[in-house]
Amino acid sequence: MSIKTIEDIQVAGKRVFVRVDFNVPMKGGAISDDSRIVAALPTIRYLAKQGAKVMLCSHLGRPKGKPNPEFSLSPVANDLAVKLGTPVTFINECIGVSVEMAVKAMSDGGVALLENVRFHEGEEKNDPEFAKALAANTDVYVNDAFGSAHRAHASTEGITKHVDTCVGGFLLQKELEYLGSKTEKPERPFVVILGGAKVSDKITVIDALLEKADSILIGGAMAYTFRLALGGKVGNSLSEPDKVDVAKAALEKAKAKGVEFLLPVDNLVCDALDFKGGLLGKTQIVEGDIPDGWEGVDIGPKTIELYKKTVEGAKTVLWNGPMGIFEIIDSSGGTFAIAEAVAKADCVSIIGGGDSVKAVKRSGFSEQVSFMSTGGGASLEFLEGKELPGVIALDQKDS
Ligand code: 3PG
Repeated sequence: MSIKTIEDIQVAGKRVFVRVDFNVPMKGGAISDDSRIVAALPTIRYLAKQGAKVMLCSHLGRPKGKPNPEFSLSPVANDLAVKLGTPVTFINECIGVSVEMAVKAMSDGGVALLENVRFHEGEEKNDPEFAKALAANTDVYVNDAFGSAHRAHASTEGITKHVDTCVGGFLLQKELEYLGSKTEKPERPFVVILGGAKVSDKITVIDALLEKADSILIGGAMAYTFRLALGGKVGNSLSEPDKVDVAKAALEKAKAKGVEFLLPVDNLVCDALDFKGGLLGKTQIVEGDIPDGWEGVDIGPKTIELYKKTVEGAKTVLWNGPMGIFEIIDSSGGTFAIAEAVAKADCVSIIGGGDSVKAVKRSGFSEQVSFMSTGGGASLEFLEGKELPGVIALDQKDS
């Protein structure tokens, strides 16, 4: 499946509705991470340069279908104007007369940002009337909101039923390329690193990647459930005893498929943990079983060396999920060492969104990886092999 993109159509003089994902973290009214805005710039610049009238639409947070100034996109309009170096008109609605008037007043190449689309109940309900209202001033629909493409909402899916031309933007295209084709037909060896807290969150991803990977390296608290599955002990570590069967099935599938499946050989453990305070109690490195009263918080030095060696030999690396509690400095070593190894390896390196992107940024190696996904839930669903409603609703290229 290959979607049409903005390069396949004419946009000059047209009213182009662009769904972006400007759901950015805010602290005290200020944007604390602008990655998603930066990632949308190539599409916005291209459309403006081609002479389109660019109307940007996004959600921010979960305002539950009602206007709420706390979730206004107005600060994003200001930030965007600085980044583009051109004025960005902020329209404090996303449907109705004010939008119609503003669009009429726009000149070719102009950029406007509509207010948070989730201020209307119809957005998350994918209400057909609301979708029609969003489409009212639109000639062309562009989806560049990969982070929201797993949602079948009015601005990501419903609207496409009311606009004749519906295509993808550059960011969407890049996400599909890196998370899709580059892992579908990877250059081998293809090494997958999976971490995070729960096996239950990742089991469908593990299952899908066992079909494609040469090696899978497991870290994070997820590894403790695998240890239980092998009959080991995990002390007080976060684990899911009710998912042991699921972990066993994954281990068996790996064996049957000939996929190397590596688990930590040693762990950093502590006897007390204060996550909010960023503190660990007494710590030690243990190999094998984790003793009673101790909790695993990171992979140990031998595991780091083992995983680094595997990464160094890879031609494609996909990483999703941290190796330990990287938010606490004393248990960040494993995650940051893997970030460095991935960044320095001579391979296509893909960071699969969410916490792993945060970790790579914090490690200082983000400039050296090939691609960092802007998706959270969307990346996971896509890697699971699910069709994303926001993608399949777009016009397909003739094959
Ligand atoms: C995200 O941050 O993952 C996307 O913007 C989707 O947001 P949502 O989970 O509130 O739908």
